[in-house]
Amino acid sequence: MDRLLVQGGNKLKGIVRISGAKNAVLPIIAAAILGTKKSALLEVPNLDDVQTICKVLECLGVKIDNTIPHTLKIDSSNIIGFEAPYELVTAMRASFLVMGALLARVGRAKISQPGGCAIGSRPIDIHLKGFEALGAKIEQGHGYIEASAPHGLVGTTIYMDFPSVGATENLIMAASMAKGTTIIENCAEEPEIVDLANYVNMMGGKVRGAGTPTIRIDGVKELTGGEHTVIPDRIEAGTFLVAGAIGQGDIVVENVLCEHLKPLIAKLREAGALVEEGIDAVHVVGPKTLKGITVKTLPYPGFPTDMQAQMMVLMCIAKGQSEVTETVFENRFMHVDELVRMGANIRTSGRTAMIDGVKKLYGCQVKATDLRAGAAMVLAGLVADGTTEITDIYHIDRGYENIVQKFRQLGANIERVR
Ligand code: UD1
Repeated sequence: MDRLLVQGGNKLKGIVRISGAKNAVLPIIAAAILGTKKSALLEVPNLDDVQTICKVLECLGVKIDNTIPHTLKIDSSNIIGFEAPYELVTAMRASFLVMGALLARVGRAKISQPGGCAIGSRPIDIHLKGFEALGAKIEQGHGYIEASAPHGLVGTTIYMDFPSVGATENLIMAASMAKGTTIIENCAEEPEIVDLANYVNMMGGKVRGAGTPTIRIDGVKELTGGEHTVIPDRIEAGTFLVAGAIGQGDIVVENVLCEHLKPLIAKLREAGALVEEGIDAVHVVGPKTLKGITVKTLPYPGFPTDMQAQMMVLMCIAKGQSEVTETVFENRFMHVDELVRMGANIRTSGRTAMIDGVKKLYGCQVKATDLRAGAAMVLAGLVADGTTEITDIYHIDRGYENIVQKFRQLGANIERVR
């Protein structure tokens, strides 16, 4: 099993280019199932999760050509299956996103109960309630969920109990070819949802209001294909911005949409970092001494839960007290024990973590307990005294393209070993 070795202490300097967004490209690839003509997706990050969802589509008869780097040519003209296999769905929860598209395109979907990062129980009740409201029949058993709508879905008004990102995406796809109009209220507003809506609309869909709490979808008879460029990954960008802030770095993060980074930039400034926003780049300069801050994770446009672990590293070495409240997932503090092993002073109580800043973290052996926790271990290693050895890095490979090369290019001492 591969490991990462990080030697702390180097001040990061230079320019790093951010890849396309993992959380945008996964639902967009699923949405390609809807189109009867070919699609070309540009700025596709080279990630294990992308390969997993492509395999799911290939099981359904979709042809995918990935010979051009960062481009996927997808031909869904001939869908021959409706079942997403166990080993792929358990490897990645987002595989469940094919359910909405399959229901719309072929009126049937059989999908294994989803897996993914172990950050809470992560139910799918909101997805299923939405499908049922659209007229699908749901049957569950033997680890599978089967949905069917042999005569097609019918538009309706759906109020979501919580603005779930995945459920909003799944319902946009399902409703895109339903008879009549669907209104989704209290839906998620994440930028990745806007990107999905733009892709569906480019194929001939009628999705309005994405990026607000109410989305209206007028069902169309057929969706086609076309070309779409995926938005930059705001979480990868955020991870590099924190890296610059914590190690007295001086970094320009390129290929970003600053608008998507507002909640993070506000907190970095509060902690004392100098952050300048350009048109498609952000420049961060880390201060000598960081100040303790308070962060509460929330659905967009609140502070993203996917940046919580990385931001906690900053808090570990900031002067004074900091506090994190995780409101999106119920079990997303697994990185705390690893950071404590490195010398951090953190106490947790329910969904809140209280952090007393320490002068130094110390390198030791730690685990990437999930994707973003893995990124946090890299950041902690970059500012720690000595060497940090990170195991279970397959989590990091799911969501960060070329993380080692990108950090090395900024002057970090990091290597991947077998
Ligand atoms: C997506 C992102 C993930 C991010 C999360 C929150 C992708 C591929 N993944 O995950 O990186 O951390 O949004 O920003 O885009 N919930 C229910 N019932 C449901 C669905 C969700 O109770 O049917 C709960 C979940 O358990 C969780 C919360 O809602 O506590 C948020 O989940 P959701 O927004 O659905 O996240 P994902 O789409 O899984």
